[in-house]
This record gives sequence, C-alpha cells and structure tokens, in this order.
Amino acid sequence: MGAQKRCLFSRDEIARRVAELGEGIGRDYPGRDLVLVGVLKGVFIFMADLVRALPFPVEVDFVRLCSYGAGTTTSGEVHITKDVEMSLRDRDVLIVEDIVDTGLTLAFLKQHLASHQPRSLKICCLIDKQERREVEVPLDYIGFPVEQGFLVGYGLDCGEGERTWPEIFVLERD
Ligand code: PRP
Repeated sequence: MGAQKRCLFSRDEIARRVAELGEGIGRDYPGRDLVLVGVLKGVFIFMADLVRALPFPVEVDFVRLCSYGAGTTTSGEVHITKDVEMSLRDRDVLIVEDIVDTGLTLAFLKQHLASHQPRSLKICCLIDKQERREVEVPLDYIGFPVEQGFLVGYGLDCGEGERTWPEIFVLERD
C-alpha cells in the first residue's frame, strides 16, 4: 500500500508563521536572558529558523528523548538519551518542539526541566496535533494547530529522509 503526499504548509506559510512566533516571543521576553531548549531530532530546522526570527540573541541547548513503544501505540515511558548541558537555574527557559502528539514527551520534559529550577519555563511548538493527545500540556506558543494526519517535512520524518523537505506534507494512503 503506497501513500500520497499533500502539501499542508508551504515554505511561505511556514516562514510567515515562524516570523510571527519570533515577534510574539520577542515581545514577551524583552531584555530577558532567554534559553531555548530544543527537542532533537525533529526540531533542528524549526529551531534554526525561530532563533533567527527573534529580535535578540538567545542561548540554545538541546535534549534528546526516547519513548518506548513509539509508533501506533506508546507505553508512555520516556527517557533521556541526551540531557541539557548548561545550567538552567534562574534562567528563562523556552522548550522548543516540532510536534506535540500524545503529549507524553513534553509532559515528561517539562517536569524534568522544572527540576533544574528555571526562573520561568514555557513551551513553543510548531505543530499541535490533537488526534492522539493523552496528556494535556499547556502550550504557550503554537505555530499550527492540526487535527490529525501523518505529517512529514521541515524536520518531521517517517523514515529520516523527509526531514529535509522544506514544506510540511500530510501522508495519505492510496
Ligand atoms: C516526535 C516529536 C516529538 C515527539 C512528540 O519525536 O519530535 O519530540 O515525537 O510525540 P508525543 O507528543 O507523542 O510524545 P520522535 O520520537 O519522532 O523523534 P525525532 O524528533 O528524533 O524524529
């Protein structure tokens, strides 16, 4: 069984939305010392664009998380394969994620980073996909709310290669 791909968000639409997110975040953290913590691997393209859409320089760090049973079902068990490397204590921290699906990854990460005692801790995600949500996590900045679908491109993959596509596609079965 094959799959067709349909463009959901074009390069221009993504660029416009990322610029808006950058402006909004810029307004909310004036004169603050912001750290962006990206969730690898999917976030690397969004985060690269987002930091350049901000009106001030920020520091960046990354985590990588692994959730057992990822795929059609998940056990909800998340563990860290790469942790942050800088001190987040008393810093304003913004978690940056490409897509929120079940919410399990962010629920775990928010709790984990809160233990680093940041001054503030918020979340920015490019895509808020509601279809499989299991845990409600407050999302402070959302690029695109999406009801459902298997999305690839702009960092999102289903077999690695799609990550580098500049647009976001939804895969539809034939
Ligand atoms: C994806 C995505 C999020 C996570 C969201 O990562 O980048 O980190 O899944 O899923 P959840 O809300 O159901 O927890 P993935 O595990 O595919 O890793 P990748 O970013 O390295 O592709």
